[in-house]
This record gives sequence, structure tokens and C-alpha cells, in this order.
Amino acid sequence: MSFPVHRPRRLRQSPAVRRLVRETAVHPAQLVLPMFVREGITEPVPISSMPGVVQHTIDSLRRAAAEAAASGIGGVMLFGVPEERDATGSGADDPRGILNVAAAAVVAEVGDAVVVQTDLCLDEFTDHGHCGVLAPDGSVDNDATLERYASMGLAQARAGSAMLGLSGMMDGQVGFVRAALDAEGFTETILLAYSAKYAGAFYGPFREAVDSQLKGDRRTYQLDPGNGREGVREALLDVEEGADIVMVKPAMPYLDVLAEVRASVDVPVWAYQVSGEFAMIEAAADNGWIDRRGAILESLTAIRRAGADAILTYFAVEAAAWLRA
Ligand code: PBG
Repeated sequence: MSFPVHRPRRLRQSPAVRRLVRETAVHPAQLVLPMFVREGITEPVPISSMPGVVQHTIDSLRRAAAEAAASGIGGVMLFGVPEERDATGSGADDPRGILNVAAAAVVAEVGDAVVVQTDLCLDEFTDHGHCGVLAPDGSVDNDATLERYASMGLAQARAGSAMLGLSGMMDGQVGFVRAALDAEGFTETILLAYSAKYAGAFYGPFREAVDSQLKGDRRTYQLDPGNGREGVREALLDVEEGADIVMVKPAMPYLDVLAEVRASVDVPVWAYQVSGEFAMIEAAADNGWIDRRGAILESLTAIRRAGADAILTYFAVEAAAWLRA
């Protein structure tokens, strides 16, 4: 009879030992809460495909942002839902536009207790729902869109947003917005580049959250789900253009890309656990098919383990409470 030389189970024998040898932890400060604010409403509006998530009024947004700050999370990412939309997304760079007004209100409320971030993309503001402006032939015009992003970025910086989330996937967007900010003295505004953002089915509930007008799809600018190397290339290009942080999105279906990007760049790498990932956990839990708290914490741990330094997640505040306990 011979005994095993290697006994990996030794380090799994008790909660205390497991805690001591755990490689990956999730800290509340590493979580960022995406929040929606809608123009022209007097009460928060629930989003049916995202249980517990609402479109906020400015007032309810301020209160929820203060609660988020008190929970110890690291940041909030604001998305605006305007009342009026047009071809160029005029509401996006209007200082009275909903997202700019909301950013100023949240900054006034929370100061720098959390890092206030704003989505820099036109899709919520255009009447066709695309992330950029259209050329006469109906295609998304990359370089004309860059001008709009620069103007939108400046409006957000003026409103007090500390970090701009460039989620539109236009070529050259990071360098273009950086130059525009620097020229106006906003050298400290942080750029979070959604570098490897994949086109696909997991943004479904978000489209309801922002009343998306999109008819077609985003496959001429967001990445093809089959392409991992291209995600790494996008991240490297964004770092070269001056991105302070790069992101992979969605998170769980793209953990391989996340790990590759982490190994390829030396800036922070974030991941976005998107609306579809959120909705899948909620729906399965609601049916009693999955342990909700267990699935949420395991998913966040797995995303961290794959290489994310921080995670955008609709579970941020709730998870922070569990992680503090
Ligand atoms: C674009 C944007 C989207 C999301 C974040 N920023 C939608 C899209 O690309 O269609 C999706 C986030 C989510 O699904 O939770 N402004």
C-alpha cells in the first residue's frame, strides 16, 4: 500500500485554511455600479428585464448614489435616457442634457466618496440608436462620430465627471477624446476604454433600460464573438492612444479574452458584467434553479480571478454588503 505524495486536499480541510490560501478576493472598492437616469419623469421607473434596477429621476439618483457611496463601492457609472432624440444625438453634449445634469448632481451629492463616471457614447441620444452618427449611405461614420465624442467628453468633464467610459467602439476614439480634453485643460479626466466590447445577445435588457431605438445591430463596430486576438489588439491600441484603464465586455462569456488582455497590458483591466449576465442569474434564482447569493459571489470571484482589477456590475451595492459582513 502506498500513500499519495501529493495531497492538495490538505489545504481545503477547513474554512480557516481555505480562507488563508485563497488566491482571489473581491473587495467592495473594486465594484462599480451602473445607474440609469431618465429625463422628464417624477418617479423612478422599474426595468422589467432587470429586477430591482430602475430608471432614476435626478432626485432618486442622488439618493441612490449616496447609498452606493456609503456601501463602500468604488464608483458609479451613469447612463442617461433623454426625452428627445435626434440624428446627431444633440442631447449628449448639451450642458442641460440629462446625463450632464445628472453627473453634476451626483458629484454635488457624493463629492469624491465614489468615483463618478459617465458613459461616453451616442446610442442613448440618437433617434436611430446607433453609437455614432450616420453617413448618407446609412453606415456609421467613424470620423464624424469622433467629433461628437470629443464634444460629449468635454461636456461631461465640465459637468464634473471624473472618468469617461468610452463605449462606442469607434477607431481612434481614445486618442481623439484625450486630445480634446487636454486642449481644454482637462488633463486629469480619466479615460476608461471599453476596448474589447463584443457584439451579441447579452445587452438585451440594457436596451430596455435605455429605451434603445436600435433596429439593426452593432456588428460593424463591436467585436465578433469569435475573435479573441482582436480583443487584445484593441486593448493594445487603446493603451497606445492614452487609455488609463481598458475593459472587456461582457465578462463571463469572455474570461479568456480578459486573461489575455491582463497578460498583455500594464494598465488596470476592468470587466463589465452586463445586463444579460445579470438577468440570467436573477431569472434562474427566481425560479429556484440556482442559489442567488452563491452565483453572484462566484461570478464576481471568477471575473476577478480571470484578470479584472475592478468590475462593473448591477450587483455592486448588494455584493458589497455581503463582502463587508
Ligand atoms: C453603449 C453601451 C451598451 C452597454 C453599455 N454601454 C449597450 C450596447 O452596446 O448595446 C450595455 C451594458 C449592459 O448590457 O449592461 N452605450
